[in-house]
Amino acid sequence: MNGESAPGWPNDAVRRIAAANNVLVLTGAGMSAESGIATFRDAQTGLWAKFRPEDLATPQAFHEHPRRVWQWYDGRRQQVAAAEPHAGYRVLVELEKRFRHFAIATQNVDGLHQRAGSQRVFELHGNIMRTVCAQTGRPIDDEWLCEHPGEPPPSPYQPGVLARPDVVWFGETLPEGAHRAAVRSAAQADICLVIGTSSLVYPAAGLPAIAAERGAMVIEVNPDETPLTASADVIIRAPASAALVALASHLGH
Ligand code: APR
Repeated sequence: MNGESAPGWPNDAVRRIAAANNVLVLTGAGMSAESGIATFRDAQTGLWAKFRPEDLATPQAFHEHPRRVWQWYDGRRQQVAAAEPHAGYRVLVELEKRFRHFAIATQNVDGLHQRAGSQRVFELHGNIMRTVCAQTGRPIDDEWLCEHPGEPPPSPYQPGVLARPDVVWFGETLPEGAHRAAVRSAAQADICLVIGTSSLVYPAAGLPAIAAERGAMVIEVNPDETPLTASADVIIRAPASAALVALASHLGH
């Protein structure tokens, strides 16, 4: 016996999870990596290894080069449309049924948690498949997009204003409702499971500390070290799908 109930999941973590009432899962781009969606900061394959965020993911970039930004998001939308949730997503769907309070706060804009069947998902950074008026933020229906392939369509609400992806760019605030709900869930959590995020982008990266302050066990699932590693209670150095499938089997799912 090596003190672990299976590779990577210590017995005490499995026991604490099994006994928990309130679970908050925080996910980042690493959760979607095995579904074929590029992360941002992985050295070779990350989007920010190939593109400069200030050229594509700021309000200024969209203001100055709307076509370039729109087309980049078009490419990412195609990648998301072609992706399928991997087995780890289905584990989270099953776990949601088990706990009294279970929520996923995701930094991902791909909607894969919902496509897999998760119900309580707080989209901290929006959703790439939705489009809003660049001035008012009001949602715009899909049919407007078909008429303008490759171009940001005009907003139907304001003359001279464009539509934009419903995502949070650098320098913008998070959707208030999603952020508030995530903070509330963190403050009540017994377990905070942090999967596939570099833990560099705030305020999302601050959620585990809120949970830890109230006594939650913070568990990091990530093949690589992050700034969260030093303060995490449990570290699972494995890809999201393998780690979650292993957890499910420990919990008897
Ligand atoms: N399983 C788990 N983790 C993985 C996997 C995997 N299969 N593959 C990679 N990772 C980890 C990487 O080690 C890295 O720590 O996922 C993390 C991805 O980090 P980022 O690319 O920085 O993604 P994220 O933390 O979600 O970025 C936060 O930055 O640019 C913005 O708005 C964007 O929401 C994004 C935010």
